[in-house]
Amino acid sequence: WGKDLMTKVIMDCDPGIDDAIALTVLLAHPEKADLIGVTTVGGNVQLDYVTQNAQKLLTFLGSHAELAAGQATPLVKEIQTASHVHGKTGMDGYDFPENSLDYPIKSHNAVTYMYNKIINSDEKINLVATAPLTNVALLLKTFPDVKENIEHIYIMGGSTLQGNITLAAEFNAYVDPEAMDIVFNSGLPITLSGLNLTENKAYVTMDEISKIKDLGHVGVMASSILDIYAGHESSIGMTKIPIHDACAVISLIAPELFTKSTNYSMDVSLTNDQYRGMTYPDRRVDSEKKNSIKVLEDVDREAFVKFIFDSIASYDKK
Ligand code: BDR
Ligand code: CA
Repeated sequence: WGKDLMTKVIMDCDPGIDDAIALTVLLAHPEKADLIGVTTVGGNVQLDYVTQNAQKLLTFLGSHAELAAGQATPLVKEIQTASHVHGKTGMDGYDFPENSLDYPIKSHNAVTYMYNKIINSDEKINLVATAPLTNVALLLKTFPDVKENIEHIYIMGGSTLQGNITLAAEFNAYVDPEAMDIVFNSGLPITLSGLNLTENKAYVTMDEISKIKDLGHVGVMASSILDIYAGHESSIGMTKIPIHDACAVISLIAPELFTKSTNYSMDVSLTNDQYRGMTYPDRRVDSEKKNSIKVLEDVDREAFVKFIFDSIASYDKK
């Protein structure tokens, strides 16, 4: 009955290089989490590429998780991609076998897919969301009864400090802030890995990245795709490389690595100006709080990097 009590997870993502590492880390720990489904959403690159990348990864990593394709575009605005960071296909740099694209796509409606999976589950489901929150927001809006069977949502998105895609906004928040607003105010328990954590605390150094290629066959794949990403980040002057989405996965499967967090009411700007997608915590003591989100603020960085490395290396030991 151990397996029945396993933490059940659906991962909503837009691979994307750091999504790929996050999925790799998650699938390395079947003892901690049972990944039942992966859902895709347009984000880092267009949906078709994102879904193909998920097919490639699930095949390569030997997973049998179900795959469902989701929304191609955000709730309100046109999509903005990040192919300048993730490459044209979102995961350039490694030749996955042609037959990867035979990986079955169970549904082309991630929202109804998630609803059916969650509502029919004996146990509550955890969501890990590492992309614009379009699918998750539509799920919660269309089928509010689904909330009863969702345990927790672990999100990579937003920030309490700097932005990345704009001065003020983090990418996932910026692409679909209306979706983030719906999710933040859904009443569900949320743990947030924002840029204040992923860029400032949970980074990986270039020297550490150079060692990933020695971590077995998954290490070769991970380092091939990371080289392009790290190359971009260092070309814009970053010496500390964030693997943002791994934080959301690790906050679920190894929460003890995070050494500081604060519960904040978080807001996201929906304006059509330079503040669009900016997230900000309500730090006032006397205000009426809209929501309460666990914002991760620090991590044992060396243990975090070791966790990622050990996860990658574990594939050759199974
Ligand atoms: C987030 O945006 C995407 O480019 C990454 O995959 C990550 O989810 C970081 O801002
Ligand atoms: Ca992502």
